[in-house]
Amino acid sequence: MIKLGVLISGGGTNLQALIDAISTGSLSASIELVVSSKSSAYGLKRAEAAGISVLALSKEDYTNPLAADEYIAQALLDAQVDYVVMAGYMRMVRAPLLKAFPNRIINIHPALLPSFVGAHGIADAFAYGVKLTGVTVHFANEDYDKGPIIAQQAVTIEENDTLESLEEKMHAVEHELYPRVLQLLAQDRVTVDKAGRVHIH
Ligand code: GRF
Repeated sequence: MIKLGVLISGGGTNLQALIDAISTGSLSASIELVVSSKSSAYGLKRAEAAGISVLALSKEDYTNPLAADEYIAQALLDAQVDYVVMAGYMRMVRAPLLKAFPNRIINIHPALLPSFVGAHGIADAFAYGVKLTGVTVHFANEDYDKGPIIAQQAVTIEENDTLESLEEKMHAVEHELYPRVLQLLAQDRVTVDKAGRVHIH
């Protein structure tokens, strides 16, 4: 049983997938706190509906990004979370958070890293014309989108796919993969070696 803090900025469908996996018992975890970088994020409603404590921030709170991350880190430490799960969080995590949770911050990226880093992984892969893309779950570190990769799942782009149909396929994979990977962490089956490679036992 692990305690999670979840960072969001938007719709929170990945947050919902975690809430659902916890309630069906496929993820042995509890969500202690949801932090949103936007006070209007729909994901906050999902958290509240599930009875989870929330911390809603706004643009002004990030005027000093380091101070913002110190504040967030303290809130997560106070909530005694084991892992910090980024789920559509559109801000970088900086030193105060990374130091408070070394190799304990996880991100989901909608592309097969190291390809298509950045905020538009699905659209960028589609526009490039790759035939294979996918979802990556990785530890966050100071190198944006470059932390140790825990798991990846491929998604094929077919001739008749549109950006919308690809987005749908990608989100379906995300919602299945993220709880599954977090369950590996809950079972203590994930280690990172000195070279920064992840091993699943
Ligand atoms: C997901 O595609 C995730 O991979 C990306 O942002 C999106 C968040 O969606 N980082 P949601 O807020 O979980 O619905």
